[in-house]
Amino acid sequence: MSEEQPEDLVVEIGEGRSYPIRFVESIADKLSRLVVQYMDEQKGLVVVTDMNLAVAQALLFDDILKEVPTFTVSPGESSKNLLRLGEIWDFLANIRLDRKGAVIAIGGGVIGDLAGFASASFLRGTSYFQVPTTLLAMVDSSIGGKTGINLEAGKNLVGAFFHPEEVLIDTTLLKTLPDAEFSAGMAEVIKYGLLGDAELFSRLEDLDRLHPEHPELASIIRRCCSIKAAVVSEDEQETATAGGRALLNLGHTFGHAIENVSGYGIYLHGEAVSIGMVAAARMSCLKGWIPEVDVGRIVRLLKRYDLPVCLRQPLDRMELLEAMRQDKKVRRGVVHFVAMRQLGDSFTTSEVEEHVLLESLEIIGAE
Ligand SMILES: NC(=O)c1ccc[n+]([C@@H]2O[C@H](COP(=O)([O-])OP(=O)(O)OC[C@H]3O[C@@H](n4cnc5c(N)ncnc54)[C@H](O)[C@@H]3O)[C@@H](O)[C@H]2O)c1
Repeated sequence: MSEEQPEDLVVEIGEGRSYPIRFVESIADKLSRLVVQYMDEQKGLVVVTDMNLAVAQALLFDDILKEVPTFTVSPGESSKNLLRLGEIWDFLANIRLDRKGAVIAIGGGVIGDLAGFASASFLRGTSYFQVPTTLLAMVDSSIGGKTGINLEAGKNLVGAFFHPEEVLIDTTLLKTLPDAEFSAGMAEVIKYGLLGDAELFSRLEDLDRLHPEHPELASIIRRCCSIKAAVVSEDEQETATAGGRALLNLGHTFGHAIENVSGYGIYLHGEAVSIGMVAAARMSCLKGWIPEVDVGRIVRLLKRYDLPVCLRQPLDRMELLEAMRQDKKVRRGVVHFVAMRQLGDSFTTSEVEEHVLLESLEIIGAE
């Protein structure tokens, strides 16, 4: 049962570069209008997607988009690499996409980052549209213009800040998303509550478990998008010395270390972030910033979405600590953590003693 669509938002980045996040009732209608517009004006149009989407949303691709040249990659993080990027560049060159043309990225964060970077770099910049199809992409990766690929040496090491023309959100696309991926996206939704919106956190506590057809899902997604848009407007390229875009990394410093030490693919990113948020909450509690009872509230909400709140297999605490020190967000050798002053109010700090970190890691199951 669908409710009224939420109002559009704008990511304000100034100088005529601001762009809308549109909540569309039917992505099929929106895409067919885009296809007509680009075809009529003889501008080129290309779709980039992955094989799961091509199957799960076959109607869209076989009908509305059947005339549009489509580049389809294998699903998953392993496609976010230089080889696929090169193939996309060749694809765009072969169909002679010119600078009036556009790329439509239809998929999760992998497709958004990959196709976004292809657009940023092909002909020194062609337009692109983000059509996020995972919950994570709807609330996070499609907004804010971070595009890029992974290298052997690490994740997201090459990329560009390059914003889309529009972000087009149709929550009905989530109906085909696997449950575990939906839950992983919920970790990011809960993160927004923790970092800047206590009311959102309480609302999530009050609501039954959200699911793709829940009547409040679209408005919850909009609320997350508005937080991300506001943070991006204030700190577009993550240059703020305190707070700013770095706040979006709540739980991520621990989460990245967990992914890194356990080996990529053992935890979904959202699962690692879930455990990371518990560690960040423990750390904030040990420092005396939030009470124990709040840690309990966070753990309960994460568990409602079957998200892990401690490690499935113990990891070595010193290795995790070392991985945190290697994180690319480390500035001048100092690890900056996102901590909570209270639920819905977070800040960045480097004032966390090693024994506090070790204890926080122990409580999430590290040895
Ligand atoms: N650019 C940013 O600001 C930013 C922010 C956060 C994360 N990221 C990046 O996002 C990526 C993770 O994104 P993700 O979690 O969306 O993963 P993903 O793109 O790999 O998608 C997850 C899985 O769901 C499948 N899928 C996607 N939509 C579907 C649908 N509607 N129906 C059926 N299957 C569907 C995909 O094929 C894939 O197997 C990482 O590479 C991360 O670095 C980028």
